[in-house]
Amino acid sequence: MSVAKSLPHDSGSLHVSGEARYIDDIPTPSGTLHLAFGLSEIACGTIDSLDLGAVRSADGVVLVWSAADLSPMPDASPSVHDEPLLSTGEVHYVGQPIFVVAADSHLAARKAVRKAEITYRKKLSIQTVEEALSADSRFEDGPRIYSKGDAKQALDDAPHRLQGQIEMGGQEHFYLEGQAALSIPQEGGEVVVHSSTQHPTEIQHKVAHALNIPMHGVRVETRRMGGGFGGKESQGNALAIATAMIASATGKPCKMRYDRDDDMMITGKRHDFQITYDVGFDDTGRIQGIDFIHYTRCGWAQDLSLPVADRAMLHADNAYHLPNARIESHRLKTNIQSATAYRGFGGPQGIIGIERVIDHIATHLKRDPLSVRRANFYTDFDETEDVQTTPYHQPITDCVINSIVDELCETSDYRTRRRAIQSWNAENPILKRGIALTPVKFGISFTLTHLNQAGALVHVYQDGSIHLNHGGTEMGQGLFQKVAQVAASRFGVDIDQVKITATDTAKVPNTSATAASSGSDLNGMAVQNACDTIRDRIAEFLAEKHKTIPFDVLFENGNVFVAGTTYSFAEAAKLAYENRVSLSATGFYKTPDIKWDRIKGEGQPFFYFAYGAAVSEVVIDTLTGENRILRTDILHDAGASLNPALDIGQIEGGFVQGAGWLTTEELVWDNRGQLRTHAPSTYKIPACSDRPDVFNVALWKGENPAATVYRSKAVGEPPFVHGASVLLALSDAIAAVGNGNEYVALDAPATAETILHAVNRQKQSA
Ligand code: MTE
Ligand code: MOS
Repeated sequence: MSVAKSLPHDSGSLHVSGEARYIDDIPTPSGTLHLAFGLSEIACGTIDSLDLGAVRSADGVVLVWSAADLSPMPDASPSVHDEPLLSTGEVHYVGQPIFVVAADSHLAARKAVRKAEITYRKKLSIQTVEEALSADSRFEDGPRIYSKGDAKQALDDAPHRLQGQIEMGGQEHFYLEGQAALSIPQEGGEVVVHSSTQHPTEIQHKVAHALNIPMHGVRVETRRMGGGFGGKESQGNALAIATAMIASATGKPCKMRYDRDDDMMITGKRHDFQITYDVGFDDTGRIQGIDFIHYTRCGWAQDLSLPVADRAMLHADNAYHLPNARIESHRLKTNIQSATAYRGFGGPQGIIGIERVIDHIATHLKRDPLSVRRANFYTDFDETEDVQTTPYHQPITDCVINSIVDELCETSDYRTRRRAIQSWNAENPILKRGIALTPVKFGISFTLTHLNQAGALVHVYQDGSIHLNHGGTEMGQGLFQKVAQVAASRFGVDIDQVKITATDTAKVPNTSATAASSGSDLNGMAVQNACDTIRDRIAEFLAEKHKTIPFDVLFENGNVFVAGTTYSFAEAAKLAYENRVSLSATGFYKTPDIKWDRIKGEGQPFFYFAYGAAVSEVVIDTLTGENRILRTDILHDAGASLNPALDIGQIEGGFVQGAGWLTTEELVWDNRGQLRTHAPSTYKIPACSDRPDVFNVALWKGENPAATVYRSKAVGEPPFVHGASVLLALSDAIAAVGNGNEYVALDAPATAETILHAVNRQKQSA
């Protein structure tokens, strides 16, 4: 069987040889126009005058559109129609598109947009959490609140009580391939759009709406993205709409790709969060009551902010059983880019909140943080015990966190190393080491229940080769290969017999974004369903021919065995074709057993949970704040892995990206609301040399108790959270400077400066 094998990424050799085609590599017909947006220079106000004369007469310019040229103004929002493609007079952030230029080259378009003369009437912009709160600038009427038990009473009754706060920054996606779209006009006013998107159906929907034609007039194709990380769930809409509209107006193909600086100025990022907590606990650190307040800056438009903020609330417990909890969430509207999906979709922010609390409790009680973690873990599932529930009242019936942490403690030698670090620190006045173990429990399913569905289209040709298509998109995560392994396994053939094809809205309609880590769960099952339909038809036909029952027809090792006769799969396919058996099928899947009321905060939003844990050891220089990750050990639960090599790749990449978020990746807006860190020169993602010196990643040996495809588990986002071990190890190293009385309270990103400030606070208190 193909599943469970460590086959390489299907495009691995194309990626490294440079042959893999991204949008900008697709050969374009002559006459293709290139688009660029002209951007707002202020954060809030109205446009007083817009003089585009010099833009129109610039070299190579073919067409210039502003709001005056578009009525009605198309909308680019994925949620509530609050994102006009171009400003209709009001501007809401520095970087908002105001006009669009089509020229005969990419460079000509980019040069032309700079020639605009725009004057504005400025208004006071809302930038900070405090400003948004005092102006009551928010999405939804007031804060959303989820609760379980009586947090207030439990806080009052607890023997110990602490309050605190943590701030964590946003994060630029930094996909290597920027946002891009290519629209090719077709006869009859129709259009084909090639888009670097996680959500082709959404592109189709938005483009059809903008062109005022039915969805059947728009076909969207996506072979692959050079990374998406959530940044291509909705942020590609504007490029697709602009290229399709100008293609339709001019009859010429139109291409748009954002230059890196434009991409960073225009598109949304991870939501930054400020989390305050009030926690009551006993002498062992067991939490009795907790009250969280989440403040998140959503930017100027709603985008996916509500479900992101919901997911943060749904992860406020991480792997810990909270008997009494109250979580209040404020979704603030601010004059910056519209924050959007980013790996974990709010989950990591919620988790950092509770991990901070645990660390704070441990310092207060002068206990090893791991013992406080253990005291609070959900118990590993045991039918004889009462079922524990989450703060949103979902029973936890698949917990394995205790076993994972036990095993990781052993393999990473956590206890011995912790003691060794203490004595090392006692002898080293300048450099200090720290270590931390952090768990993850991550809920799998879209919280908008109807999104948990997928479709597939499979053809078997008469030579036995298989054409595979499904609604998922490939962004480097290896989804296509995993799903192809499922198809090969259902037919019992070699993976080479399966042709992976581009995502295409004309083949599989009404798809969900490839997101929430559910790509393989949903599409793998839909493909299994389609393959089984065809396989059963072949089996039925051969059984009848050989006077046996379909159950006795076996598909294995590239052959079909029936009543003593062996056909190659190709022979069986040919025979079936000649006997007029249909060899093409669609497949469908919807996740069972989920229901969720996001207003009440009650139900079963997740089909199951993915678990894991990480131990990181770091060293800091207390004179400069510089730091390194010396060693990281991760044990992660991917269920019965569909492809261990690809899953380990996801865990490594997720960890590094998570560690980057919490350490070097800092977004800085100046007091005019302009993003100052809009290029790799000022925004620091992890380099190869920033990965841990020693990096041990292993898969937990277990299978998903929930009936997923081959009992695998989603793996795309949960490992991102393992980066938390680095933040807390840094905090541990800083604590070594002080006398243990003052909590380090390290904010994220823990840049060298932030670490240095924290070190100095410790020195002063000691
Ligand atoms: N891995 C790579 N290489 N590139 C990506 O863009 N996106 C992540 C994750 N892993 C991403 C990635 C995000 S945000 C999600 S939701 C999942 O992959 C989506 O794919 P899946 O559902 O197939 O896991
Ligand atoms: Mo991932 S943030 O769900 O695209």
